Amino acid sequence: MSLAVPMRPFHVAARRALTETIAEFTLTPADGGEIATFTAGSHVTVETPSGAMRRYSLVNEGEVPDSLVIAVKREPQSRGGSASMHGEAQPGTILNVSAPQNNFALQSAPRYLLIAGGIGITPILAMGQHLRAIGKPFDLIYCTRSVAETAYLDAVRALGHRVTIHHDNGDPHQLYDFWDHFETPSSAQVYCCGPAPLMEEIKAVSGHWPEGRVHFEDFKGIDAVRPSDQPFRVSLHGTGQVVDVAASKSILEALRDAGIRVASSCESGTCGTCRCRLISGRADHRDMVLMEEEKDSQIMICVSRAQSGDLTIAL
Ligand code: FES
Repeated sequence: MSLAVPMRPFHVAARRALTETIAEFTLTPADGGEIATFTAGSHVTVETPSGAMRRYSLVNEGEVPDSLVIAVKREPQSRGGSASMHGEAQPGTILNVSAPQNNFALQSAPRYLLIAGGIGITPILAMGQHLRAIGKPFDLIYCTRSVAETAYLDAVRALGHRVTIHHDNGDPHQLYDFWDHFETPSSAQVYCCGPAPLMEEIKAVSGHWPEGRVHFEDFKGIDAVRPSDQPFRVSLHGTGQVVDVAASKSILEALRDAGIRVASSCESGTCGTCRCRLISGRADHRDMVLMEEEKDSQIMICVSRAQSGDLTIAL
């Protein structure tokens, strides 16, 4: 995979289990150098021991960082990323890590609504801790299946009385009802990180909110290449160039490998940077950006693929 950012070796300085399936890793520079400052909501790209690149949000405070702290959930469908971190990244292991980047930064607002589902708590916790430190009002809703599957429970509780922790016990009838928070648009900026169904729900209930007020972060998008995915071809409108997209690659990666540069940022279907025109073909849209009415004519090539047959896109 070609990388947009340079990597640097870090030691796994410490590792601890947060739940049965979530482990926290503290990374320190193997060269003894400094770590650049970063803001709440930042992430790093990590070359996992398997060689797979994965993005993880930073949990720790980034004003004077002496380490990078990430938490990784072992995904049952993992094809190398989280399984490799859980199985092979032990204290002393060296991992290549990018500098922190932030596509999910807090914007100035009178108040905030922070929403996390499962492992999505990682950037949300960092945001809550930052807002608490600077005295900004916020509400935080943290949804998980059960207490046993809840990472950073004490740290979240310590954020104060505006925190709601909800366990659904895996029962669809017990899902948190967000409507009260969204029925009347407020002056809040909303930040949501979690599994796709949670983000789809927030997207649905916030459809009438002003544009730019609800923000999403979804690193599962980088696993958007799924075990059942098939290869297909992409034709470039205008030049007619045809690029093969392997089952294990995104369109963006396939174009890069072919020497075609396309602007990208999050590479997880949430920021909108890689938006291309869809000229023909049926797309399997996996992003969090496009509105229903845009899906016939546009595509986010970092995560979306062909549903069947080939695609023609315009860069
Ligand atoms: S790079 Fe952000 S949506 Fe594709």
